[in-house]
Amino acid sequence: MSSVMRNLFDIKDKIAIVTGGNGGIGLGIVQALAHGGAKVAIVARNEEKSRAAARTVQKETGSEPLVITADVSRPEQVSSAVATVNGKFGRIDILFNNAGINIRKPPQTLTPEEWHTVLDVNLTSAFLLSKEVYPAMKQAGRGKIINIGSMTSIFGASFAPAYATSKGGIVQLTKSLALAWAADKIQVNAILPGWFETDLTNRARVEVAGLYERVLARIPAGRWAQPDDIAGTALWLASPASDYVTGVAVAVDGGYTSSL
Ligand SMILES: NC(=O)c1ccc[n+]([C@@H]2O[C@H](COP(=O)([O-])OP(=O)(O)OC[C@H]3O[C@@H](n4cnc5c(N)ncnc54)[C@H](OP(=O)(O)O)[C@@H]3O)[C@@H](O)[C@H]2O)c1
Repeated sequence: MSSVMRNLFDIKDKIAIVTGGNGGIGLGIVQALAHGGAKVAIVARNEEKSRAAARTVQKETGSEPLVITADVSRPEQVSSAVATVNGKFGRIDILFNNAGINIRKPPQTLTPEEWHTVLDVNLTSAFLLSKEVYPAMKQAGRGKIINIGSMTSIFGASFAPAYATSKGGIVQLTKSLALAWAADKIQVNAILPGWFETDLTNRARVEVAGLYERVLARIPAGRWAQPDDIAGTALWLASPASDYVTGVAVAVDGGYTSSL
């Protein structure tokens, strides 16, 4: 086996940023990267929650993530978060744009402010972070950007129009960045998670009657996902194993999108 083949999934000592890495799917990604030997920065608003997540990861892997407290919808906070990582490590190899929120209301009652809030956190932040890490990745001659979409990147959601619009946009942003930066050897891909048990969906289950059972009945794998179900795909898209893969959106959904 060639050395390239042996090192396919090697991310040891890579520098990674994970937005929203203090819980749910983001923490699943942080754990996967840290287990692989990467040095990870968690970017999120709730500092206490981020510190607790960092301690958990430290106990599991021996490597404590850097905690950066920032709101990814604020351009100046995004700039300073990326500058902090660059300043500490001198490069950025991997970016996961994972932070996300939902405001569940039908379109007729959703306010323009609520619309903009969801679009800013879920979509514009991915543009801002990607733009901020680009110079470092271009200079290094490599980079991996992974954007987190959703089943609503494919399907509509009557109860979450801004969320679905943001997640549809994530796929088109992914393709556009992939095309723009392919020659710089920066691969940009999206993961479309199916239904994961997290704080986000716990709230959805309270707000949308019958959601849990309705969704479960449609998942061929027969169960909702846990945060560590994201790990394998996250590692693949963050590692040299995906160096000729760019602009794609991979569903991690237990077969949900293939099901009637
Ligand atoms: N759970 C699912 O089934 C599912 C399915 C498809 C897609 N997704 C997507 O997966 C991603 C993670 O969701 P999750 O289910 O793991 O939800 P979660 O547990 O609620 O996590 C959301 C994360 O985003 C962070 N965040 C929210 N607003 C932020 C802001 N303005 N600035 C910085 N960080 C912010 C939160 O940290 P702070 O509150 O500390 O800022 C938290 O770490 C989201 O993009 C979501 O849309 C989830």
